[in-house]
Amino acid sequence: MNTDKIRKDFPLLEKNIVYLDSACMSLKPRPVVEAMNDYYYNYPSCGERSAHRLGKKVTEEYETARKKVARFVGAKQEEIIFTRNTTESINLVANSLKLKPTDTIITSDKEHNSNFLPWLKYHHVIVPTCNGRFDMAAFRNTVNKNVKVVSVVHTSNIDGETFSVKEIGETAHDQGAVFMIDGAQSVPHKETDVKKIGCDVMAFSGHKMLGPSIGCLYIKKEIAEDMEPFMVGGGTVQDVVNGKPIFLKPPEVFEAGLQNYAGAIGLGAAIGYLESIGMKNVEKHETSINKIITEGLSSIKNVTIIAGSPEERGCIVSFNVSGIDSKELAIMLDSYNIMVRGGFHCCHNWFNTHGISGSVRASLYLYNNEVDAEKFVAAVKKVATLGK
Ligand SMILES: Cc1ncc(COP(=O)(O)O)c(C=O)c1O
Repeated sequence: MNTDKIRKDFPLLEKNIVYLDSACMSLKPRPVVEAMNDYYYNYPSCGERSAHRLGKKVTEEYETARKKVARFVGAKQEEIIFTRNTTESINLVANSLKLKPTDTIITSDKEHNSNFLPWLKYHHVIVPTCNGRFDMAAFRNTVNKNVKVVSVVHTSNIDGETFSVKEIGETAHDQGAVFMIDGAQSVPHKETDVKKIGCDVMAFSGHKMLGPSIGCLYIKKEIAEDMEPFMVGGGTVQDVVNGKPIFLKPPEVFEAGLQNYAGAIGLGAAIGYLESIGMKNVEKHETSINKIITEGLSSIKNVTIIAGSPEERGCIVSFNVSGIDSKELAIMLDSYNIMVRGGFHCCHNWFNTHGISGSVRASLYLYNNEVDAEKFVAAVKKVATLGK
C-alpha cells in the first residue's frame, strides 16, 4: 500500500495536520468530491420519477451506487437502503419490525447511543462486557424465545475491539431472533460480508468510509418484506386508490421523499477507492500504525490504554492520561495540529457502567502514516507531563 500516493488524494493533509478522528468522520479523497461535483454540475436532478434524460442519468448512477454498496458487503442490490446515517438506519429497523412494547430486545452494554436509545421503548436487556469483550456465557443464559431482536456493535467505537458476531448471531437465530449488527466501525476498515457473518440486518455510514454524509442499511430480503415502512410519502407507493396505498417493495418503500443522490454517488466513488486499495491492505496498514502508537503511549508513565492489543483494536487507540480530563487533552492536542476525540464517544452507558470518566480516542485510516504516529506520541508525551 502506497500511503504517500494515497495522501496526495486528501488535500487537507497538505496543511500539516494529523487527522486522527476518522471513527467520527473520515476525510474524503478527490474522486469522491469530483463524483459529487459532477452530479451537482451536470445532472442535479431527481432519480426514479423524472423521465427526462437528467432524471434517467440520476437513476442509473444512484442504482449503480446501490449495486457497489451491495457488492462491498456481500448483499443483493435490493437489500440495500440509503438513509441519513447509521442512527437513522437503526431507528428505521426499531420502528419498522412490528415490535410490541413487551418484546425483548438484547444489546450489549457497549453500544453507541444509536444502538441503545432506539430500543428503550421495548423490554431492553443488556448483556455485559468484560475487558471490552462480549460476555458470551451471560448472553447464552439470557437469550430465549421471547427475544425478538439481538442487536450488537460489530467493532466498538470506544476501543476498536471486534465482537465475535458470527457466534452471537448463531445463538440469536437458535432462539428465532432477528440478528442485527452496527457496522459503523467495521465496514470502513475490514472486509465485511453479511452472508459470512450471518446477520439479518446491518447499519453503517458512508461518512466514516471516505464518503459523504449518508447512511446505509442492509436488510435481508425475507425480513425486509415483512416490515412496515417507518416513514411514508413520495417514492414509497405504486398507487393510492380510494385512499389506500399500494406500497412498493424494498428498498424503495423505505426511501421516502427525494434522496441524497449526490451522497449515494459519492459513496459509490468511495467504495471504488477502497476496493482499488483492498480492505485487507487497509486493515493491515492501520494495525501497523496502531502498533507504533500503542508502543509509544505504553512508554509514557501516566497513560492507560483501554483494552486489547493493536491487532485486536485495529483502527482505534483509546486512552487516558491521569490528572487530565479527556476533553481537555483533546483540546491541548489540537494546539499541536492533532485532531482526536475526547469524552464518552456517545457510549455513555458503557463508561458509566465501568466507572471510567471518558477517554481520548485516536482513530486511524488508510491515510495515516508513521510520521502521524510519531508526532502524536510526541505531543501526548509533552502534555502528559502536565498531568499527575
Ligand atoms: C459504532 C457506532 N455506531 C453508530 C454510530 C452513529 O453513526 P452516525 O452518526 O453516522 O449515525 C457511530 C458513530 O460514531 C458509531 O461509531
